[in-house]
Amino acid sequence: MSSKQVPVKQIPGSYGLPFLGAISDRHDFFYKQGRDKFFATRIQQHNSTVLRTNMPPGPLISSDPRVIALLDAVSFPTLLDNDKVEKLNVLDGTFMPSTNFTGGYRVCAYLDTREQNHTLLKRFFLQMLADRKDAFVPLFRNCLQEAFIEIQDQLSRKSGKADFNGVFTDASFNFIFRLLCDNKHPSLTNLASQGPKLVNKWLVFQLAPLATLGLPRIFNYIEDFLIRTLPFPAWLAKSSYKKLYDAFETSATTFLDAAENAGLDRTEACHNLVFLAGFNAYGGLKNQFPVVIKHVGLCGEKLHGDLVSEIRRVVSDEGGITVSSLEKMSLLKSVVYEVMRIEPAVPYQYARTREDLVVRSHDASFEVKKGEMLFGYQTFATKDPRVFEDAEVFVPGRFIGEGEKLLKHVFWSNGPETEDPSPTNKQCPGKNLVVLLCRLFLVELFLRYDTFEIEVAPSAFGPAITIKSLTKASTI
Ligand code: HEM
Repeated sequence: MSSKQVPVKQIPGSYGLPFLGAISDRHDFFYKQGRDKFFATRIQQHNSTVLRTNMPPGPLISSDPRVIALLDAVSFPTLLDNDKVEKLNVLDGTFMPSTNFTGGYRVCAYLDTREQNHTLLKRFFLQMLADRKDAFVPLFRNCLQEAFIEIQDQLSRKSGKADFNGVFTDASFNFIFRLLCDNKHPSLTNLASQGPKLVNKWLVFQLAPLATLGLPRIFNYIEDFLIRTLPFPAWLAKSSYKKLYDAFETSATTFLDAAENAGLDRTEACHNLVFLAGFNAYGGLKNQFPVVIKHVGLCGEKLHGDLVSEIRRVVSDEGGITVSSLEKMSLLKSVVYEVMRIEPAVPYQYARTREDLVVRSHDASFEVKKGEMLFGYQTFATKDPRVFEDAEVFVPGRFIGEGEKLLKHVFWSNGPETEDPSPTNKQCPGKNLVVLLCRLFLVELFLRYDTFEIEVAPSAFGPAITIKSLTKASTI
């Protein structure tokens, strides 16, 4: 695929007129075309999967919205080469929310790999997760138990419908809080049951410029003007953030003591902890479970039956659910990877070139100058038809057997699925944990139920899922 000689070409595409070009592109992106069509039409127009365009939010929030978009499986990994690209303040793209949202600190996810603090913090996070690995399975199963009871309650109370997102938002928050705070349930802290609401409020003021509510057309210009002209000031989320900070400061004693022992400042470590728990972990998971149930739900009863057989057989043979018994469930593992391939929960990645370099696509190579902003729409990289057969189709068994070789093209964690996060890269330190949680979620689901039905609707971030029915397990 990448060994053949390809011609050097100019990067096609234009940024349009200053200011107006960026506004026009963002209207195409959010309102006129939508994100997939936005990129697909430009690929077609320029006959290239590497091209120039503006990315939202644009004026006045980002001072320079111009990017080089990498839209195939060959060029996308340039974004992951930390020797060639810098990841300084680019977590959210061409703008960065005020550090007042995080106590005045630039937290780990905004730091470049060449900043010493990144190495220190990332090493500490990886160690902190490794120290808690024995808690992952029992703690999450406990949270899942609460969640399924609530779903069943809602199904019997609310005219046969259950709000999956609401229930799993709470489950995600409870899990991550308990994992990081010595198993203390957030309801026993100053947060009571308000944790997810407080995080949502804090997140929305940071991320609103990247979203659309999907309102009827006549509201588009108003929405665009209101959320993309000036950044929301951090004081709007100040009281919510303070409550979250206080809860972690009083409950995460082991974490914060260990941070101090590792040479980190306790206050800075606590702001990093709130960001890791609220933005990285909870923000990712609250979208991840709806995406998993959406695809497994849409596949229907045949896949449900196959998963039921595999899961119940292995659990019975192995005498329970452990990390190693999950490893024996090859269909389950493949299904989770396929979800991450077809709909990565965090689809946009950004990085600035450290030096002049050459970016390759399947058919051409392109010279990029030092300091230019690269942008990857991961959904197109992991649905590249020249790497994945039937790339647009959800193929449950895609990654079984020989198919495992394709895992190097799955990038949901900001790195290939075959590589691991480290202090010297920007790959998600929660990578293995997230995969484990998705597997556990499906295992619990199919131990309890034979099949289920859902309704899917779009929402500002990710799909909104309503459970319409659950069929209780007919075998054990
Ligand atoms: C479904 C859930 C998750 C998804 C989709 C996800 C995805 C990602 C992605 C794409 C990045 C890189 C962002 C970038 O630099 O462009 C990232 C970074 C990060 N994630 Fe996750 N993540 C998830 C869950 C978690 C969890 C559970 C944790 C911790 C317990 C975590 C902690 C972090 C941290 C600290 C970073 C910054 C890494 C660095 O600066 O080197 N994430 N995550």
